[in-house]
Amino acid sequence: MKILVIGSGGREHALCWKLAESPKTSALYSAPGNPGIASVATCLATTDYLLAAESIDADLTIVGPEAPLAAGIVDQFRAKGRPIVGPTAAAACLESSKAFAKEVMLSAGIPTARFATVGTPEEARAALQEFDFPVVLKADGLAGGKGVIIAGSPAEADQAITQLLTPGSRLVIEEFLTGEEVSFIVLSDGVNILPLEPTQDHKTVFDGDTGPNTGGMGAYCDGRILDDFQKAEIMAQVIRPAIQHMRAEGRPFTGFLYAGVMMTAQGPKVLEFNARLGDPETQVLMHRMASDFVEPLFAAAHGTLDRAPLRWRPEPSVCVVLAAAGYPGTVRSGDPIEGLDAMTEATVFHAGTKLENNVLVTSGGRVLGVTARGETLASAIRSAYEGVGKIHFDGMHYRTDIGRKGLKRW
Ligand code: AMP
Ligand code: GLY
Repeated sequence: MKILVIGSGGREHALCWKLAESPKTSALYSAPGNPGIASVATCLATTDYLLAAESIDADLTIVGPEAPLAAGIVDQFRAKGRPIVGPTAAAACLESSKAFAKEVMLSAGIPTARFATVGTPEEARAALQEFDFPVVLKADGLAGGKGVIIAGSPAEADQAITQLLTPGSRLVIEEFLTGEEVSFIVLSDGVNILPLEPTQDHKTVFDGDTGPNTGGMGAYCDGRILDDFQKAEIMAQVIRPAIQHMRAEGRPFTGFLYAGVMMTAQGPKVLEFNARLGDPETQVLMHRMASDFVEPLFAAAHGTLDRAPLRWRPEPSVCVVLAAAGYPGTVRSGDPIEGLDAMTEATVFHAGTKLENNVLVTSGGRVLGVTARGETLASAIRSAYEGVGKIHFDGMHYRTDIGRKGLKRW
């Protein structure tokens, strides 16, 4: 089968790395890809994805990032009868509009934080009267994981309103929830649902969950993040109602549905929906997945997803993201990257890298994902950080506590 993976980050590198090992894959392509992906797939230097798929006569296309989904790539492919894994633009609204996602949660009875949607600074200030501090402010549209501000005081909330509420946009204000956060991702064909293993991301830039939010600074997956009851609870209270509601609304959700869930004292509550696989979550998921992944992806694209569960390796996996100078603010590019050649401790997935005169340099906020497996979570963490210790680029920064929260379950 000829497979095309759309995107150019660590998620897409990890996906290609996994798909390349399948006996069902006869040829693997990525558009636009990156220098790391080029070691396992043929990169097509284009963002005209339909043309790319037609030029290689792709049997299956998988979309990584949210932007092409929100722009309707799945609608475009389906109109041409070309199999693709992902939601239509109408279904991708679950991610591209936080206000829409909240309305869906309300209608479908999915537990989530109490909220108000506002369109002007005056409305925002009035709505704030109904919330305690800290309070959470979210820009309505796509923001690469950076459109959320947790304000500890009225002054901080005021600043957040100015920053996030641009003319013509909307803002969601919501109650601050406490608990452990879990990324719960499923694959669906619009009806059937295949859950992946729960993972845990590390959203803020600094150790101890401090500093501004990022797209994700690291993740782990060890089969112990949720017990069977908690998984069943999330399937029953969140995932099935969401899939059913979207189908009933005439915008069936196909592809990867990602629920960011807070495990609160009152049970799971949804923080956000994404319409795609998470990054860096995919890097640890692909490291632990024992099943062939081509088969369920093909079935999802054809509306024939089986209910046979995926198999997972028992060994935990950990991914540490190495970020560029300035991330998650304005990042510096062009710093040469060293230390990848002699890597045996970990698999290094490329995200923001490019080749400049044959030298690998930084080219984005999240540069690399250093991913390892181990007998225990502690040994997986150790291997990942040993891998990190070999890599250098100017301005490189990373969290030193990835996976630490999981150690208490061992
Ligand atoms: P979101 O993009 O909505 O997932 O928000 C990004 C991050 O902000 C989440 O992963 C949480 O760490 C944090 N966050 C979002 N909403 C809330 C909330 N209601 N209470 C506490 N933290 C939140
Ligand atoms: N790591 C969070 C996300 O992919 O949205």
